[in-house]
Amino acid sequence: MKEIQLEYRVRSYQSPDELPEISRELILMAREAATRAYAPYSGYQVGAALLLENGEFITGNNQENAAYPSGLCAERTALFYASSKYPGVAIRALAVTALANGQLPEAFAKPCGGCRQVMAEYEDLSGKPIEIILDGRAAIMVMEGVDTLLPFRFKKEELTANR
Ligand code: THU
Repeated sequence: MKEIQLEYRVRSYQSPDELPEISRELILMAREAATRAYAPYSGYQVGAALLLENGEFITGNNQENAAYPSGLCAERTALFYASSKYPGVAIRALAVTALANGQLPEAFAKPCGGCRQVMAEYEDLSGKPIEIILDGRAAIMVMEGVDTLLPFRFKKEELTANR
C-alpha cells in the first residue's frame, strides 16, 4: 500500500478590492447576473461570469423549472452559451456567486459536481487552466484550474484508454 498526498493551492481574499481588476470585474458581473436568476423554487440565486481568451465576457444565472430536473445551474448556462457562441475559445476565468434570500452568503459559492465536470471539459479542450473565483462574504477563494475542484476527474481519454 502506498498513500498519495494531493496538494492544492487556493488563494483567499477578503474583498473584491484585493483582487486584480479583471477578477474584480468578473465578481461584480456575476453578482449582477445573480440578481436576474430565475430561481422561484429554491430561492437560491446563482450568478456566473466568464472571461474568454478573445476578450469577451459572458454571464449566466440559474434557470429553474416547475419540472425540477429541467432547470440548469448558472455555471453551465454561461459555459454552454460561451461554447455555443465562441466554440473552442479558451476560458481565462470564471467567477461564481450566490444570493440566498437576496444576500451574499457568508460561505463562498461552491459549484456543483456536474458544473465542475463541464468546466473540466472546456479546460481540457483548450489545454489552459481556468482561473476559478468563488465569491463569498467571509472569503473569496481563487484557484488555478479545475483540478483543485475535481481531482481524479473523468476525461475523454478514459473513453479510449487501454482498448
Ligand atoms: N445552482 C447553481 O446554479 N450552481 C451551482 O453550482 C449550485 C446550484 C442552482 C441550481 C438550483 O437552481 C439552485 O442553485 C439550488 O440548487
